[in-house]
Amino acid sequence: MIDAHHPSLTSVYAADPARYDNMIYRRCGKSGVQLPILTLGLWHNFDGYKSFETDRAMIRYAFDHGITHFDIANNYGPPYGAAERVFGQIYEQDLKPYRDELFISTKAGYDMWPGPYGDYGSKKYLVASLNQSLKRMGLDYVDVFYHHRPDPETPLEETMGALDFLVRQGKALYVGISNYPADLTKKAAEILRGLGTPCLIHQPSYSILNRWTETDHLFDITAEYGMGTIVFAPLQHGLLSSRYLNGIPEGSRASLDRHLKKDLITDESIGYIRQLNSIAIERGQTLSQMALAWVLKDNRVTSALFGASNVEQIAENLRVMENLSFTTEELQEIDAVANPFMEFLKRHS
Ligand SMILES: NC(=O)c1ccc[n+]([C@@H]2O[C@H](COP(=O)([O-])OP(=O)(O)OC[C@H]3O[C@@H](n4cnc5c(N)ncnc54)[C@H](OP(=O)(O)O)[C@@H]3O)[C@@H](O)[C@H]2O)c1
Repeated sequence: MIDAHHPSLTSVYAADPARYDNMIYRRCGKSGVQLPILTLGLWHNFDGYKSFETDRAMIRYAFDHGITHFDIANNYGPPYGAAERVFGQIYEQDLKPYRDELFISTKAGYDMWPGPYGDYGSKKYLVASLNQSLKRMGLDYVDVFYHHRPDPETPLEETMGALDFLVRQGKALYVGISNYPADLTKKAAEILRGLGTPCLIHQPSYSILNRWTETDHLFDITAEYGMGTIVFAPLQHGLLSSRYLNGIPEGSRASLDRHLKKDLITDESIGYIRQLNSIAIERGQTLSQMALAWVLKDNRVTSALFGASNVEQIAENLRVMENLSFTTEELQEIDAVANPFMEFLKRHS
């Protein structure tokens, strides 16, 4: 399934003329922006050491299939900054002629560099970080710049003021927030609205196995303020896919014990994964496709933000578009497995 249009990655890239034929785009809240229902995230597998050509093939493949949105952050790697650097190289080699067809995000808010100005939410950190990110990626501006997580100490006015400042400087077209609970989202949205830079988008985690946004009523608030949402880790870092149906494969995230703990893969969890997989098969889908469809069933979700380690995974996930709807019975069957599975994850967290 490696991109038939570009068998040789060393050849000059020309995007597939059919790239917009099958992708579904949703409006991002009440903005003018439409986003593909699938977005590729570069958190993992974009460190550039072992896999530059795979990374490049994944980006090409995604764009050739209508994935116009790529999600990055200052500290994705390792080392910090590596994902932006890798993306910058691929942009330079392949994507530069297509800049106006791309929607590129980056973020700041987690640990990035030593000292008091390289973490959380001060104006000092956010402004310096976006300047660095633009240099690493070779871009004049990003399409959306996020504050990556709430900062309990910096006044929200300062953090939101920094986002507004960066838009006015032309370094970001839009702004977003990530990992903010509903009450803080409301406050942030109010401040940004007052500054004349409405918050475009919220990026929370959300999956069949992670439903905090539902109990927090986050999507009610984002809808009230006309914000879109892009939900990360819809595959629960790979648990909601075929990856662990038969144990832990070599090279998988759990095998590396990195952002998916190896000890989560047990006979009990594999049992749940297999049950969910059977429901997906009944629907004529794979488990990853069902997991993506599940987060997208709420129209307030603009895009499902997934990660991948090869082109085949992206190809499989793109076929989610063949079945995006659920019957009440299917949702009940999923919940009957998800509830004990979530209890299991709680016990092992
Ligand atoms: N805002 C935030 O705080 C935050 C936090 C985390 C992530 N994010 C964003 O969300 C993105 C996605 O996060 P994530 O990668 O953890 O989430 P994910 O999409 O839930 O998991 C991705 C992993 O699932 C496996 N996978 C994907 N498709 C598959 C398929 N068809 N078959 C089998 N396995 C498949 C791959 O694992 P293997 O690598 O093992 O192959 C892949 O790396 C990140 O890249 C980042 O952009 C944001």
